[in-house]
Amino acid sequence: MKVLIVGSGGREHAIAYCVAKSEKVDKIYCTPGNAGIAEYAQCAPIGAMEFDKIVAFAREKEIDLVIVGMDDPLVGGLVDELEAAGIRAFGPRKNAAILEGSKAFSKDLMKKYNIPTAAYENFTDPQKALAYLETAKFPIVLKADGLALGKGVLICSTLEEAREGVKTIMLDKKFGSAGNEMVIEEFMTGREVSVLSFVDGNTIKTMTSAQDHKRAGDGDTGLNTGGMGTFSPSPFYTKEVEEFCNKYVYQATVDAMKAEGRPFKGVIFFGLMLTEEGPKVLEYNARFGDPEAQVVLPRMKNDIIEVVEACIDGTLDQVDLEFEDNAAVCVVLASDGYPVEYKKGLPISGLEEFEKHEGYYCFHAGTKFDGDRIVTNGGRVLGVTAKGKDLKEARENAYAATQWVQFDNKYMRHDIGKAIDEA
Ligand code: AMP
Ligand code: GLY
Repeated sequence: MKVLIVGSGGREHAIAYCVAKSEKVDKIYCTPGNAGIAEYAQCAPIGAMEFDKIVAFAREKEIDLVIVGMDDPLVGGLVDELEAAGIRAFGPRKNAAILEGSKAFSKDLMKKYNIPTAAYENFTDPQKALAYLETAKFPIVLKADGLALGKGVLICSTLEEAREGVKTIMLDKKFGSAGNEMVIEEFMTGREVSVLSFVDGNTIKTMTSAQDHKRAGDGDTGLNTGGMGTFSPSPFYTKEVEEFCNKYVYQATVDAMKAEGRPFKGVIFFGLMLTEEGPKVLEYNARFGDPEAQVVLPRMKNDIIEVVEACIDGTLDQVDLEFEDNAAVCVVLASDGYPVEYKKGLPISGLEEFEKHEGYYCFHAGTKFDGDRIVTNGGRVLGVTAKGKDLKEARENAYAATQWVQFDNKYMRHDIGKAIDEA
């Protein structure tokens, strides 16, 4: 098979790593890719939103299967366009990717089908949102409806802050049209767990759990980022939590989407909050998480192509998903200043060290070739993943491996997986 992967982050590198292991695959392409993905795939400089060019490229290269890794093209309908051109594609169609693309839609879906989530109201009128705040309890959470690079969620401690938040989202349109509508929801406390799953429209199979670290600084301080590190599995995702979610969350979501005439095929990412009242859904994503994929996929025993094809063909019930009985930790190496302002083009050394060690991976995010050299090309530069027999060993291994790689302004959190010690 010839496989095309759409995206350019650490997640797509982890996907490419799995695709390269498949015996079914002869050739991999990636648009646009990065310097790490280029080890497995022929990368072409086509943006993820350049649908016409992607379709033309897939036709020209006679691609058998396209895997769309990123949210923007999924929400924008790339899978629909590929299918219309007769090209097999993995990921939800536009009418199902709305599960991530509109938080107002996903909240209404959960309410209608009794899927546990925070209490909320949706607003299209900023005046009504402001009026609602007058009688609200604080802290409160404001969410821009649409995609906002993970930045459209504001947690407001006071009425003043919340008023300012409504202005930021709906009037100043800081997140563009994502702020045409807004969700205001109850603030929840508890541990967060990410559960990724494969879905074929009817059947859902969950993968091993993970936990992300969204804030830029140690001790969960600083700004929200795309994710600074992950561990898998989460020790807080107990059998009881899993059973509860099997009963009230996972299949219920798939059935709800089907009942709405929006059958979901692809990956559903459940962002869960383990509250005192039980697990509740924080958010849905319509794709693998980044950097969750970097700790989940290296532990998957299945041939990813077999699973992906089963999702497309509606035969996922015949697949047994299997994960290694170990643990993995990913520490993101960023360029200092991320997520605000940072330098690019800094040479990276030491990458070859990963080839000498089994169970260690260096997933590239913001990297590119500058002649023969690999240089930084983004805020999150690399994701250093290591396995271990348990979480503590994996964490030790991952932090040791962060020292193999050097570039100017290298920045990382030093407390990825600290929660392990509290389990
Ligand atoms: P989301 O993009 O909806 O997952 O929100 C981003 C982050 O904001 C989550 O990972 C949580 O840390 C936080 N968050 C979102 N909704 C809530 C909520 N209702 N209560 C507390 N924290 C929240
Ligand atoms: N790591 C969170 C996300 O992928 O949205």
